[in-house]
Amino acid sequence: ARKIGVLTGGGDCPGLNAVIRGIVRKGVQEYAYEFVGFRDGWRGPLEGDVVPLGIPAVRGILPRGGTILGSSRTNPFKEEHGVRRIKENLAKEEVDALITIGGEDTLGVAARLSDEFGIPCVGVPKTIDNDLSATDYTFGFDTAVGIATEAIDRLHTTAESHMRVLVVEVMGRHAGWIALHSGLAGGANAILIPEQRFSVDDVCSWVTSRFKASYAPIVVVAEGAMPKDGELVLKDGSLDSFGHVRLSGVGEWLAKEIERRTGKEARTTVLGHVQRGGTPSAFDRWLATRFGLHAIDAVRDGDFGKMVALRGTDIVRVPIAEATSRLKTVDPALYAEVGVFFG
Ligand code: F6P
Repeated sequence: ARKIGVLTGGGDCPGLNAVIRGIVRKGVQEYAYEFVGFRDGWRGPLEGDVVPLGIPAVRGILPRGGTILGSSRTNPFKEEHGVRRIKENLAKEEVDALITIGGEDTLGVAARLSDEFGIPCVGVPKTIDNDLSATDYTFGFDTAVGIATEAIDRLHTTAESHMRVLVVEVMGRHAGWIALHSGLAGGANAILIPEQRFSVDDVCSWVTSRFKASYAPIVVVAEGAMPKDGELVLKDGSLDSFGHVRLSGVGEWLAKEIERRTGKEARTTVLGHVQRGGTPSAFDRWLATRFGLHAIDAVRDGDFGKMVALRGTDIVRVPIAEATSRLKTVDPALYAEVGVFFG
């Protein structure tokens, strides 16, 4: 029997456990594979930190958020003898293939290990940000959008009671997908995304006109959105793998600017990690389970260096390297279509 290692890396995401369950159930029941779980992303194979992963371990985990395997952002290419240590630990555990569930960083490592070092890896894409170009959707996104939408619904009633501006900051890193989808679903009055620099003056004149019409405005701002007419303080100036500067506090900053420029009272809600916690939506359980079932089939076929992806309603396989090389961001035409264009 073949033995397969499974790991989850990067930020956690609702649906990770559903993937693990899909892999293990099909692998054990249909192919008689054995499994081992590596703890905390790439730290597990680096340090030989393993946990048993059979049918008992995956029982009851489908609706559970987080990941039973733990996660980290450890990168073996930044560790001394990283690749050698991974090879040694895989040999020790008699693991002959790895299924790696993660975002750009985790899958980037899997692509290199597979393509350059001959370690057989299959990838499963994961991010609440929905910004991986090779797949139409990633699991976790629908759950995050649902949580943000419910928050916006609730903020409408408190905003109206006090006739205040409410600014809601949502996650998404350098992509505006969560902001766009939740903003539209929640009936937000302005949606500001990283793909399009926004004008604070335009936001303010629109806020003023909303008050004249006796509405309390809701502004959804993606954490990565940037003003074109204002000074926003950068967190630490550090760059991510795409060369983008990481920001902090755009929601708080914008609410202050709105108050200063319009004289209207404004408050900020930063949704933060609430968007990543808790039970996955039905759609995310469905997608995550299908990804798991297809990932184990890729292992069975010896189709390594590949990642499963959703295209329309089909699950396909694409080279991991290709999938992680380009961000999927919001198209200006789609943004304009939604009718909240502050460019
Ligand atoms: O990529 C998922 C994500 O939640 C982003 O939306 C966010 O920018 C980032 O992770 C937060 O990272 P951390 O969990 O390290 O605070």
